[in-house]
Amino acid sequence: MTSLLEFDDVSLGYGQVPVVTKVNLHVEPGEIVALLGRNGAGKTTTLLTASGLVAPMAGRVQLLGQEVDTRRPHRNAQRGLGHVPDNRCLFTRLTVAENLRAAAPPSRIKQALTYFPMLEPLMGRRAGLLSGGEQQMLAIARAVVAEPKVLLIDEMSIGLAPLMARAVLERLGVIVRELGVGVLIVEQFVHMILRAADRAYVYGDQGVALSGSAREVLGRMPEVEAAYLGQQG
Ligand SMILES: Nc1ncnc2c1ncn2[C@@H]1O[C@H](COP(=O)(O)OP(=O)(O)OP(=O)(O)O)[C@@H](O)[C@H]1O
Ligand SMILES: [Mg+2]
Repeated sequence: MTSLLEFDDVSLGYGQVPVVTKVNLHVEPGEIVALLGRNGAGKTTTLLTASGLVAPMAGRVQLLGQEVDTRRPHRNAQRGLGHVPDNRCLFTRLTVAENLRAAAPPSRIKQALTYFPMLEPLMGRRAGLLSGGEQQMLAIARAVVAEPKVLLIDEMSIGLAPLMARAVLERLGVIVRELGVGVLIVEQFVHMILRAADRAYVYGDQGVALSGSAREVLGRMPEVEAAYLGQQG
């Protein structure tokens, strides 16, 4: 079966020196896959590579069975790739409604609001005035209205209190279950995401240090910590 997203022996980075090598990773419909690792490990670069914004240095990245387009990255979005970057990239001077309308027609916005009812009373407010949690809800809602098949989310809980992060994650879980979207998510609250995700990859020095079901990875915390400290093996 064709995966939604597949990295095949991929080396990625900038210039001559790869940040991560030999990445083999896949995302299937209806699953949340966590991508973990210390600062600078290459998580954001991985998502940028999946989106076609950074070209892989070696190997193959496939979206729905076709090579990711690195020359015209908007084509990947048209084919079903959604990306919520770590800075959320909202139009802060536009209202919540205008942010959503920039991504999809009104009928789809109505549907998305069923997943994010907390945005409804905020539709007329400028996005820049929303709280961090509300902004993250809006960023994910804006990606969801475009009806992605695979959704990349970088630093989901950046700037959020754990309770709010859990609320956003709970909403995401509903979307994944009901719409069958595949999610690749980078998250700093390691325990929280491993309890919510189906599978996980942990980057260590230069590559995937460990991977498996989220439950398995949760049970191998010393190895996860070693990967974070850059002391594999
Ligand atoms: N545009 C760029 N040009 C050159 N090097 C870059 C560029 N962007 C990032 N890097 C470098 O690539 C490496 C991986 O960065 P990346 O942002 O992917 O890490 P990360 O795992 O997302 O880290 P964090 O947890 O801090 O967000 C870092 O050493 C970083 O300095
Ligand atoms: Mg990052």
